[in-house]
Amino acid sequence: MVSRLIPVDPFDLVIFGGTGDLARRKILPGLFRRFCSGQMPEGSQIVGAARTELSDDEYRQMVSDAVAEFGGGRACEEGTLDAFLKTVSYVTTDAKGDGGWVELHGKMRDATVRAFYFSVAPSLFGDLAERLHRFGLATPDSRIVLEKPFGHDLATAKALNATLAQHFNETQIYRIDHYLGKETVQNLMAVRFGNMLFEPLWNAQYVDHIQITVAETVGVGGRGSYYDKSGAMRDMVQNHLMQLLCLIAMEPPAKFEPDAVRDEKLKVIRALEPVDWHHIVRGQYGAGDNGPSYREDVEDPKSRTESFIAMKCHISNWRWAGTPFYLRTGKRLKARASEIAVVFKDAPHSIFGADAGRHRNVLAIRLQPNEGMTLDVTIKEPGPGGMRLVDVPLDMSFADALGPEAEEVPDAYERLIMDVIRGNQTLFMRGDEVEAAWAWTDPLIEGWQARHDVPKTYDPGSSGPEDALMLMHRDGRKWREVKA
Ligand code: BG6
Repeated sequence: MVSRLIPVDPFDLVIFGGTGDLARRKILPGLFRRFCSGQMPEGSQIVGAARTELSDDEYRQMVSDAVAEFGGGRACEEGTLDAFLKTVSYVTTDAKGDGGWVELHGKMRDATVRAFYFSVAPSLFGDLAERLHRFGLATPDSRIVLEKPFGHDLATAKALNATLAQHFNETQIYRIDHYLGKETVQNLMAVRFGNMLFEPLWNAQYVDHIQITVAETVGVGGRGSYYDKSGAMRDMVQNHLMQLLCLIAMEPPAKFEPDAVRDEKLKVIRALEPVDWHHIVRGQYGAGDNGPSYREDVEDPKSRTESFIAMKCHISNWRWAGTPFYLRTGKRLKARASEIAVVFKDAPHSIFGADAGRHRNVLAIRLQPNEGMTLDVTIKEPGPGGMRLVDVPLDMSFADALGPEAEEVPDAYERLIMDVIRGNQTLFMRGDEVEAAWAWTDPLIEGWQARHDVPKTYDPGSSGPEDALMLMHRDGRKWREVKA
């Protein structure tokens, strides 16, 4: 199978925070891979902008090192890196002062798409937006790309949206949630809305419950000062997990177009019921053989921030009334494994009697690693000895099904940056979506703060605290195993 490359128009992309971690790990190597694949058209340029004093050559060296370290395994023709580096330059720019802005303006061309990537602390978003405007860099067609966290709560998200709205229209603002750029996440929509098989069963009548797990093996080391002010709820649930929940639960949009999709996602968020605090389990990893505890990582022996959360939610609408959605995410867990599992109800009547046992169809969509899907189907256990049933997975690993092409799929950032250049906002969060998500999470966070809730300690390398298992057990259900 040959993947289709849809060319984009030549562009000027300015990366504020161009020397930062995200730029080095994701943005620049991602752009290089797009260049290698031939998608970055001739006449495009990348301008790094940050406070550090660097010459063009010094910045190019930094880009070259970043590509060597994080570039990924794609074969590129010899000499490609040099050609790529010729498109790169650097301007020392002060987000809070006037230095560098005139020079930056001088680099912009009229006939190309202009995009400004804010890969900086959110406290600088307003300064950058205002200066882009004041120094005449922002044209009516320019785009700004913003990284999370998008606010710390509803009030700050609203303030940020209002600040940006002074200088940019909503159609120019691209709020990145990199989970939406993941291949399997988009596949979720293809599976739901491209097949006849699943959608008729995709509702409370046939679905017993849905589990969403995003498990990580890494701790918070190195990011402790940011993370300790956020915790798993703000860092993962309010954005990534809620986006997954929206895609699983939303009604079919009339078209695969930005506002059609985002309107449906917004309806899901607005239909989420407040969560009873008995249905939330917060955890914090303790010390283990191969690493310090959370509290040591964040250098606060009394920290009450959660590095794990499990919760049961309900969506109040016709499709999902009564069907629980269990969400779980955490750091320093047993495996890096993210999946969405749709667990269907038992057959209404078993003609095979009690000995046949209890069997359920489960559609599991694996986000990472080994992207793919499995559908557990109940069949007869082979051999003589009566009618015993067994569940076997119909397994579709994308790597097996699509061959080497599956290895070549662009990483989330590559895809999303190309969407920015194309002007396609479908996979980006709209301002009202972000606000609605905060409106749902704020009372939960305020609730545990008011109760002085202390997260339960869990062993690193485990599946999280015992109480998270109990959350399911109490309902006669169980979590799927966290395994890579
Ligand atoms: C980020 C969070 O948004 O997503 C991190 O801030 C987390 O804490 C990361 O580790 C997970 O992303 P991925 O793509 O590795 O699953």
